[in-house]
Amino acid sequence: MENKIRLAGSLFSGGGLGDVGIEWGSKIPVIAACELLPSRASLIRKNFPGAQVFEGDIWQVKEAYIQYFRKVLKGQSPWLLTLSPPCQGMSSNGAGRISSAIRAGNRPLEDERNRLILPGIEVLEALQPEWFLLENVRRMENTVIRNERNQPENILTCLARRMHPLGYTLRSCILDFRDYGVPHHRERLITIGCRIPQVVAHFPKVTDVLCSGISPLHPRPTHGEGTKQAWVTLRRAIGKLPSLDSKTNCKDVNDPYHCVPKWNDNQYFWMKNTPEGQTAFDNTCCADCGTMKTNQEEVICRACRRPLPVPQMKKSGKVRLIKGFRSSYRRMWWDRPAGTLTMNSGVISSDLKGHPEQNRVLSLREILRLSTLDHDQWKRNYDFTGIPLGKWDDSQSFSARLVREVIGESIPPLAMKCMVDHLLQLEKSIEYKAKKTARPR
Ligand SMILES: C[S@@+](CC[C@H](N)C(=O)[O-])C[C@H]1O[C@@H](n2cnc3c(N)ncnc32)[C@H](O)[C@@H]1O
Repeated sequence: MENKIRLAGSLFSGGGLGDVGIEWGSKIPVIAACELLPSRASLIRKNFPGAQVFEGDIWQVKEAYIQYFRKVLKGQSPWLLTLSPPCQGMSSNGAGRISSAIRAGNRPLEDERNRLILPGIEVLEALQPEWFLLENVRRMENTVIRNERNQPENILTCLARRMHPLGYTLRSCILDFRDYGVPHHRERLITIGCRIPQVVAHFPKVTDVLCSGISPLHPRPTHGEGTKQAWVTLRRAIGKLPSLDSKTNCKDVNDPYHCVPKWNDNQYFWMKNTPEGQTAFDNTCCADCGTMKTNQEEVICRACRRPLPVPQMKKSGKVRLIKGFRSSYRRMWWDRPAGTLTMNSGVISSDLKGHPEQNRVLSLREILRLSTLDHDQWKRNYDFTGIPLGKWDDSQSFSARLVREVIGESIPPLAMKCMVDHLLQLEKSIEYKAKKTARPR
């Protein structure tokens, strides 16, 4: 096993951030990718010149993807395929509704995106990689889809039903990437499958692939409680970057990526009065009167009649509180990992997006650091330049929206490296054990 050539491919590749972990981190070349959106496919071409990029809907391009691997590998299997299909996840309620619609012979109201796992499985069946890794939001564990036989089936059950007969062993676990040194909280359901006989012998097939703890196919946490290292906090990851302000100083002249969107006066007023870790919805009167609110709906101070620094709007001539979750208009904590990075990392009304102290959201440079795409380990920079998306500012060579979207949907490269290194290590230790038992006494 030691000298074998290991090659990888990705499906639903996004901007290839997970692929950075595989190729730049674990040194396994990623030779093919598949992505629907042209801007993201262009990013992969730019950053992985050795990879063949299949741009388009996987239902249409899967055959070409399979043929490409067969041609390049001359019939051999890839070592690893990774898949991160978009999946909207589902409550058990939704699952029940879909199941009963299918049983009643009706076509259920379903999110077609949840069925994208099916062409993904077809590619796995055709190429039979030694390992595969499926990444998705944790809610996917409860997601029921209409399978290839038009029957309702839980996604993981469907995957196991189709991969087990090909000799795969599978395990699914929920990992939080902050437990692997990533400086933000990101919980994902990671399913790992392997068909290497020695690995399968050690970790045989199980009917219920969802594990309550960490399976042996997944790496053990390296950071946080019960480990030797603390979580990487926001302060450690971005604390030394120059200050910015969403009203007076939106851009660092020395770093085009250290920039933030402008806030309007209202947003600025609400957030300026919001302490670290808190939401603007809890703010009380900021004037000298210091009067506390008596109920959550108040927008004007009862004592001094000045507007409270709480998210509010005028509707039908009346000022009232903006409807929103208490996780919105909220600042992060300096001494914790950042909140989950999403496509909306630049929007303060979205979940937990405020800088802990400065009046702004996180800059592009900060989310690049927190995602681990900007990381000393890679010894090179990921290139976002020249690919337009959305409003294109000629003074900039990249799209801020593209950066935020691609990072918001990614597998952090450091987490991917950690998972892939674990697979390499597993192979090595199993090979070592096999050699030891085979040695004549
Ligand atoms: C969760 S993101 C993957 C991110 C990626 N793993 C990374 O680390 O950067 C899912 C990707 O699947 C792509 N996608 C959605 N529908 C698709 C389809 N029908 N065919 C191919 N790709 C699709 C989306 O555009 C999105 O970039």
